[in-house]
Amino acid sequence: MKLPRQFFQPLAIGAPSPLRDLPVRLERMIHFLPPHVEKLRAKAGELAKQVDVVLGNLEDAIPIDAKEAARRGFIEMAKATDFGATGLWVRMNALNSPWALDDVIEIVGAVGDKLDVVMLPKVDGPWDVHYLDQLLAQLEARHAVKKPILIHAILETAQGVNNVEAIATASPRMHGMSLGPADLAASRAMKTTRVGGGHPDYRVLADAGADGGSRPSAQQDLWHYTIAKMVDACAAAGIKPFYGPFGDFADPAACEAQFRNAFLMGCVGAWSLHPSQIDIAKRVYSPDENEVAFARRIVEAMPDGAGAVMIDGKMQDDATWKQAKVLLDLARLVAAKDPAMGKRYGL
Ligand code: GLV
Ligand code: MG
Repeated sequence: MKLPRQFFQPLAIGAPSPLRDLPVRLERMIHFLPPHVEKLRAKAGELAKQVDVVLGNLEDAIPIDAKEAARRGFIEMAKATDFGATGLWVRMNALNSPWALDDVIEIVGAVGDKLDVVMLPKVDGPWDVHYLDQLLAQLEARHAVKKPILIHAILETAQGVNNVEAIATASPRMHGMSLGPADLAASRAMKTTRVGGGHPDYRVLADAGADGGSRPSAQQDLWHYTIAKMVDACAAAGIKPFYGPFGDFADPAACEAQFRNAFLMGCVGAWSLHPSQIDIAKRVYSPDENEVAFARRIVEAMPDGAGAVMIDGKMQDDATWKQAKVLLDLARLVAAKDPAMGKRYGL
């Protein structure tokens, strides 16, 4: 095992030092763009004004005969576009694919200084992160990249879920992770055909009454266990958890419910695969203005977080003060990106 003292050493001579703290950034939605499609690439600058992260997808959903065009298209888009404060990410191909090595070598070589995060699919354990970590360090050194490129893992294999804590702490490059419900369902042999969201058959049935009347039942959240496990691993490691894709574009209400469950459990954002999901993510992952107003009252009533006070009959102490700080910090980030929201928050 690597000694703690060495954990923050660069992995290659000349590579930038790993970050001790993650950059503070608003990442309510990671918007997926297929970079081999020229007309979508051309709109990347416009898109960057509407979303928090633009991600060029090179992996699943990109046809095999377009893999290289997608990589080239990503590089072209990264060079041609001013992303401002919006994040620029790439989802590389999986490490066991024939494209992975060239994805990393060519992209870091061409646009390493513009790239914020590499999303790494199908991470089974810390060894996958270690491999990419070392490779990125070598390339950062070779190309004199100034800030370390971060790694975001997709949690989408049964083995990955088993190893989630080791993945979260595998490298100081770890930015966070996203639940990948489609691949995870396949890896676990779940009996579904969906990309995220609930399932009508996953429900709890009330006991039968003596009168033999109807038995109410309620659909449960298929992803509750995995999201909880991922959130704990990420929070303990000081990195960020995300819900991933929601594939039924025709059901915005179900998408919003799934995003909201993840938000309430601690996730900071989700993927938007379709433009209609951008506003859903904004709505869900920007804190509610009434909650923000209440959080301000808590912080104003106990500026240093010590002791206990009652507000509207509800007890506030150190723990609710910390929750209030989470909401206020997030509201400030939203306000900086979106002045209209800032007004509603009174910030
Ligand atoms: C995402 O990549 C998923 O498999 O759900
Ligand atoms: Mg996947």
